[in-house]
Amino acid sequence: MAFSQLFPFVSLVLGLIMPLSASSSPETYRQYCPEPYYDYSDGPFGPANWGNLHPSWRLCGDGNSQSPVAINESEAFLNASSVLETFYHSAIVERHDDHAVEIVRRCGGGALYWNSEGPYYVLNMHWHTPSEHTINGVRFPLEGHIVHVGPNGEILVIGILYEIGTKDNLLASILNWTCPFGVITLKNVTSSYYNYMGSLTTPPCTEGLTWIVLEKTNTVSQEQVDSIISYQGYNSRPLQPLNGRIIYKVEDDIYIKSKDTFVDVE
Ligand SMILES: *[C@@H]1O[C@H](CO)[C@@H](O)[C@H](O)[C@H]1NC(C)=O
Ligand SMILES: *[C@@H]1O[C@H](CO)[C@@H](O)[C@H](O)[C@H]1NC(C)=O
Ligand SMILES: *[C@@H]1O[C@H](CO)[C@@H](O)[C@H](O)[C@H]1NC(C)=O
Ligand SMILES: *[C@@H]1O[C@H](CO)[C@@H](O)[C@H](O)[C@H]1NC(C)=O
Repeated sequence: MAFSQLFPFVSLVLGLIMPLSASSSPETYRQYCPEPYYDYSDGPFGPANWGNLHPSWRLCGDGNSQSPVAINESEAFLNASSVLETFYHSAIVERHDDHAVEIVRRCGGGALYWNSEGPYYVLNMHWHTPSEHTINGVRFPLEGHIVHVGPNGEILVIGILYEIGTKDNLLASILNWTCPFGVITLKNVTSSYYNYMGSLTTPPCTEGLTWIVLEKTNTVSQEQVDSIISYQGYNSRPLQPLNGRIIYKVEDDIYIKSKDTFVDVE
């Protein structure tokens, strides 16, 4: 009996993961995904044309509160009244490599409260190379996004910027997984952060998202960045205009209740 008959689930999972690496093309993509193909090139499927690829992706072209944006500390408004509390714990996650190395929560993971609203449960975490947000004109080699969903379907994303340095333990673990499932623990957030209203940085570019971009950077080794690029290529959407939006900075530790540092593996 063939391996795939004995283990149909294993081959299905591998079949979904393997063709969607950096070498995916519009043709291979359509075989596996009903959504239109998009990429990060200057060509017809690139960011400048995302808004034309599907009727529900129009905001990618004509939205007016899109992400990512250039964050400038000197232009940010201090906001001492925003309270962020994270209650993260261990989660069983499944790894997908599509447009990004992504871990999707299967169970556990915890949640956060934002200005006493919530819980916003962790949905997934994925990474962009290079960073999508810039701070004071600096673009970082890597940006992680922890995507959360609130009680009424509101999306809140925590953005974590990485500088080259010591390797990141969470990435070291998941990049070396030999099967698509594993257990991770996100550490609670204690960093000062920037906050603004924006959008998904990938189609359908849905607006009304709360963005929390941490000021404190994490570190990642160059080898890890290269490894991520080998899976997903470059996947950073160009900066979008602020169109008068305000970026707040919340920098008083008093207002950040959790006491652990950062995203890491337990
Ligand atoms: C702080 O930010 C929230 C949005 O997160 C806003 O509603 C509030 O008005 C801001 N407060 C100040 C003092 O700027
Ligand atoms: C995060 O904070 C909550 C509440 O203080 C705590 O129960 C939990 O153990 C913390 N998680 C981690 C990973 O430290
Ligand atoms: C932020 O600063 C950079 C570099 O100084 C500048 O190019 C950019 O226009 C500024 N962005 C905003 C939104 O003011
Ligand atoms: C995978 O594990 C090996 C051996 O422990 C380590 O040297 C390597 O850096 C890891 N890869 C990544 C991308 O972290």
